Amino acid sequence: MNDIITTACKFVTSSIGRKILVALTGACLLLFLVGHLAGNMTIFGGSTWINNYATGLHAMPAWMLMAIRLGLLAILLIHVVLTLVLKLENVNARTHYQKEGTLKATLASRTMVLTGVMIFCFLLFHLWQLTVNGDPHDCYNHIVAAFSNPWCSVFYIVAICCLFMHVRHGLQSVFQTLGLSTRKVRPLYNIVAILFGLVVCGAFISIPVCVMLGIIK
Ligand code: HEM
Repeated sequence: MNDIITTACKFVTSSIGRKILVALTGACLLLFLVGHLAGNMTIFGGSTWINNYATGLHAMPAWMLMAIRLGLLAILLIHVVLTLVLKLENVNARTHYQKEGTLKATLASRTMVLTGVMIFCFLLFHLWQLTVNGDPHDCYNHIVAAFSNPWCSVFYIVAICCLFMHVRHGLQSVFQTLGLSTRKVRPLYNIVAILFGLVVCGAFISIPVCVMLGIIK
């Protein structure tokens, strides 16, 4: 038992261990995003569909819902804290050679912390707006009311564009950290990450856009 704990501590305190944890927690958050998107897409089926979906989620035992939410929160916190630790270590260990290397980095990779902070602020607002002050029985009207305010829609669209940049680079990094990426397949993973980001973020953005255009009303 002690050996397992010692190995786990060594893993978390090693740089590669932290990178793997960031990649695995990032992958879990991406899975949540796909599930959340699938649920949100039911809005295109009309109010009954999305209200049934939201009430269905809340029909599960309270302890189970709480366990899922706490699990998600723990995954998010591990992801954020370890990313910041790695970033600080990187800045401290940066040599002249590495500084030159960052010049070749993409905009998405250089702005990971910035887009991450933006997504975090968006999440706080989003949870306050649709989870704390939301009503699963009237989920459809809450979403329509929220996006009928153009400022709110624009804020969501900007935040989801940041999400695109974050996901596009994050997914590529997951492949690389987990050792799945070689020089040969890297361009393919790059395309997969861009397509995944475009489909997921484009679909999220379609909701405020359709409300503003009066397609969802
Ligand atoms: C147009 C886009 C979106 C819409 C319409 C939407 C809608 C909703 C709604 C209605 C809820 C409340 C569910 C409930 O508890 O009844 C919710 C919760 C949540 N959303 Fe979103 N969402 C959107 C985008 C996002 C994005 C981009 C993220 C992540 C970056 C996100 C993360 C969450 C989280 C973490 C929850 C809390 C889940 C829970 O209740 O336990 N959402 N969303």
